[in-house]
Amino acid sequence: MDPQNLITLLIILVSNIFTCVQSQTSDLTSWANRNETGKEFGGLWMVDDQLTEGPDPSSKLIGRARGLYGSAGQTDFGLIMALSYVFTDGVYDGSSFSLLSFNPVMKSGREMAVVGGTGLFRLARGYAVANTYQANASGDAIVGYNVTIVTYV
Ligand SMILES: *[C@@H]1O[C@H](CO)[C@@H](O)[C@H](O)[C@H]1NC(C)=O
Ligand SMILES: *[C@@H]1O[C@H](CO)[C@@H](O)[C@H](O)[C@H]1NC(C)=O
Ligand SMILES: *[C@@H]1O[C@H](CO)[C@@H](O)[C@H](O)[C@H]1NC(C)=O
Repeated sequence: MDPQNLITLLIILVSNIFTCVQSQTSDLTSWANRNETGKEFGGLWMVDDQLTEGPDPSSKLIGRARGLYGSAGQTDFGLIMALSYVFTDGVYDGSSFSLLSFNPVMKSGREMAVVGGTGLFRLARGYAVANTYQANASGDAIVGYNVTIVTYV
């Protein structure tokens, strides 16, 4: 079976992993295991992040990234990401792709694996290269993902 379609897209993830520990996510971590930074190895967060059209957080909402972030680096901070990027507007409305990869969040140009998808992303194989536009001390971040996906539909 040959790939039918090569999709490239830039998506913007507006994430609030650390402040959200207190607000909209459920923190699955043993609280004994974390301190005020919330970044310790073993931390696990259920997230529901916005996907927007541009890096301005008030730009159009085109979907949500839902899933898990787990703090998986003992020597440097990084997250294992198991997320479904679900589109709710635009060309990919109703379609989603899944990312499963380690994310060395402090680095630029971090590459992650896209392992599958639904709808227009059915049978997806691909990768994402992420760069942070901005992040602050409380862990709120705006991150761009350049995603390249091969599909068979
Ligand atoms: C909190 O985490 C920081 C960063 O990993 C570490 O330097 C600090 O020692 C920790 N504090 C406590 C009380 O565990
Ligand atoms: C971090 O950025 C977010 C979103 O821009 C903002 O809501 C939050 O107040 C900021 N926190 C700090 C400590 O600067
Ligand atoms: C996405 O790729 C374009 C073209 O290479 C580049 O100009 C842009 O900076 C990249 N964006 C991010 C967030 O990495």
